[in-house]
Amino acid sequence: MMKHTYIEDIIKHEGKEVTLKGWLYNRRSSGKVRFLVLRDGTGYCQCVAGAADLPPSQFELCEKITQESSLEVRGTVHKDSRAPGGFELILKEIRLIQMAEEYPIQPKEHGVDFLLDNRHLWIRSSRQHAVLKVRDEVIKAIRDFFYDRHFILVDSPIFTPAACEGTSTLFETDYFGSKAYLTQSGQLYQEPACMALGRTYCFGPTFRAEKSKTRRHLTEFWMIEPEVAFADLDDIMELAEDLVIYIVERVLERKGEELKTLERDTKKLELVKKPFPKISYDEAAQMLKSRGIPFEYGNDFGGTDETILSEGFDRPVMIHHYPAAIKAFYMQPDIQNPDKVLCVDVIAPEGYGEIIGGSQRIHDHDLLLKKIQEYNLPAEAFQWYLDIRKYGSVPHSGFGMGIERVIAWITGVSHLREAIPFPRTLNRIYP
Ligand code: 4AD
Ligand code: MG
Repeated sequence: MMKHTYIEDIIKHEGKEVTLKGWLYNRRSSGKVRFLVLRDGTGYCQCVAGAADLPPSQFELCEKITQESSLEVRGTVHKDSRAPGGFELILKEIRLIQMAEEYPIQPKEHGVDFLLDNRHLWIRSSRQHAVLKVRDEVIKAIRDFFYDRHFILVDSPIFTPAACEGTSTLFETDYFGSKAYLTQSGQLYQEPACMALGRTYCFGPTFRAEKSKTRRHLTEFWMIEPEVAFADLDDIMELAEDLVIYIVERVLERKGEELKTLERDTKKLELVKKPFPKISYDEAAQMLKSRGIPFEYGNDFGGTDETILSEGFDRPVMIHHYPAAIKAFYMQPDIQNPDKVLCVDVIAPEGYGEIIGGSQRIHDHDLLLKKIQEYNLPAEAFQWYLDIRKYGSVPHSGFGMGIERVIAWITGVSHLREAIPFPRTLNRIYP
């Protein structure tokens, strides 16, 4: 293949000849000149075709070429403040690679189902580029954050023998004649990992058979899960706060163009600074009550409750000490008040809901066994997990952050389905 230039680099080639390869974004004519806007994933470049500069057949092609046709063009880079990006290409040669059929996505309003059916094409649009580039930055920021703090990445498995986050959202699969489940969380494997390496994390896809159809739920989503030996609830609350701030600052610093494309109000993101407000479950329940919300004490907060709670704050709010009865089996009870557990949920501003759930874990063998039995979980499948409490058990804590919720919040897209390249939801497994 001939070497070519990516559009993001043409600034380095002013006055020189380059070859670009990409797809036709749009075209227009003005008198004897034809303008082709080419996109290649790194940017958009206006290409100018003059009748005198091109063989007639190539000039005619400029009239016929369809949206999203693939092509290779050669020309001279010319500075022009009117061109998007500040540079244009004066064409000397156009080579069509494939003439595209009539492109289904047009610059008009399409229904969201239509766009989702065409997700494989929809990701070519500039808004979707922006979201995907923010996602890439968020993931890189997370990796840098943990690497710089000397956490070791330890991948958790996807096939698992048991539930982590309740049995009602398990995807079951046949595993050579016995049952296996797609993982709901990598946490249970980070616990042994942190006993081996001190501070670890995993980052991978997680699965929940969520029967609810909301804008905050996917059936397949990506979670980042740190786990720290000798850490208590306060320690991981601080870690969560630092992580969220790091991600937001990084996206503001490096993805300003993308946030502009998305028309995100970045002033709201600039407010995300330490300290985050921290309130207990009891205080949160009281806040809902004082606002006249019909919330029943002892229940978990629903999506609307979370939105109302977040409205009082300009930054993420951390809610801790939930009733044990509504939380997972592995959470450490509070010694002063054993009905409550040492856990935290972080609720994003602007109604994006819970972005982080974490806790201190039970480190006493017998208490953990009792909880496994109380939750009607199969103790045999948890022998290895109980083992961790037999060989040098220590207090340890961790959390999970669903990255699509964070990306939706930072980009301002209203539904999680736009925060992941190919969303999986209750009613969708295509494309
Ligand atoms: O609160 P969750 O269920 O916590 C856990 O899974 C723990 N085992 C994590 C840990 O301590 N290592 O889920 C954690 C986060 C939520 O706060 C949310 O951001 C995201 O995962 N999440 C979802 N994101 C998209 N779609 C869903 N259906 C989600 N369910 C949870
Ligand atoms: Mg949760």
